[in-house]
Amino acid sequence: MAAHALIVGATGGIGEAIARQYAERPSLRTLVLCARQATRSARLQLLRDELLGRGVQALLLDADIRDEASLAALRAVLEDKQIDLDLVVNASGLLHAPGIDPEKQLEQIDAAALRTLFDVNALGPILLARALQPWLAKRRRIVYASLSARVGSIDDNRLGGWYGYRASKAAQNQLLKTLAIEMRRRNPEAIVLILHPGTTDTQLSRPFQRNVAQEKLFTTDFVAGRLMAIIDAAGPDDSGRFIGWDGEGIRW
Ligand SMILES: NC(=O)c1ccc[n+]([C@@H]2O[C@H](COP(=O)([O-])OP(=O)(O)OC[C@H]3O[C@@H](n4cnc5c(N)ncnc54)[C@H](OP(=O)(O)O)[C@@H]3O)[C@@H](O)[C@H]2O)c1
Repeated sequence: MAAHALIVGATGGIGEAIARQYAERPSLRTLVLCARQATRSARLQLLRDELLGRGVQALLLDADIRDEASLAALRAVLEDKQIDLDLVVNASGLLHAPGIDPEKQLEQIDAAALRTLFDVNALGPILLARALQPWLAKRRRIVYASLSARVGSIDDNRLGGWYGYRASKAAQNQLLKTLAIEMRRRNPEAIVLILHPGTTDTQLSRPFQRNVAQEKLFTTDFVAGRLMAIIDAAGPDDSGRFIGWDGEGIRW
């Protein structure tokens, strides 16, 4: 069981639910919660204070996973506080934003939007891993779990659309699969997981929930529990796998 966890994207629907469920575990010693504006989140401030009250080392840190300097600063704080990470969950990600709408057809392809999606969904997770290399490469169990999406599966792409989101998640998958292979050599106990949460009721999916059957739209609590069960049970043989919320492997 993880004792020293970093959650990136902790202000998001799934990231916060994961943070709350880890916070309830008696085995937890450290919880570092990170997002671009984590320190400004009243909800995360309350959670941090509650943890501090229970003697858990809890920290809110602002970092932008698109920004190498920001990730270097995150690493410096973790080093300075001698936090012995054994779990990293990257729950950040982007599907839509002002000026970024999932494309339905070719004419909607926009270079700036594509770059932003790749920055957050593909470059972010591997730049975060690079920043955390001292912990990943230490010869002991550490899980690096990053949220991807089934629509990033090239094999599974039957509907088309959402060019940028699909492609950026596919790129993340390839980058993290490659990381898993490198880590097998450098730290055989490192476990890199690429996780699909299922369609979950958050601000990310809200504009697209109309056609989702009620029983297929998960709560963040349900998803957090399923993903944490996968993380708990994962061993080195699982490193580099693309796994759904139900524990089943997903085709690339
Ligand atoms: N919800 C779904 O149905 C669904 C389905 C499949 C996959 N996923 C994946 O699951 C993950 C979590 O999604 P969610 O539904 O919880 O989304 P969400 O509620 O929109 O949360 C996204 C999180 O990403 C953070 N983030 C965005 N850009 C960032 C950046 N540049 N640097 C650091 N953090 C950044 C956001 O924080 P700030 O903006 O405050 O920095 C926020 O904490 C994403 O990777 C998403 O693609 C979700």
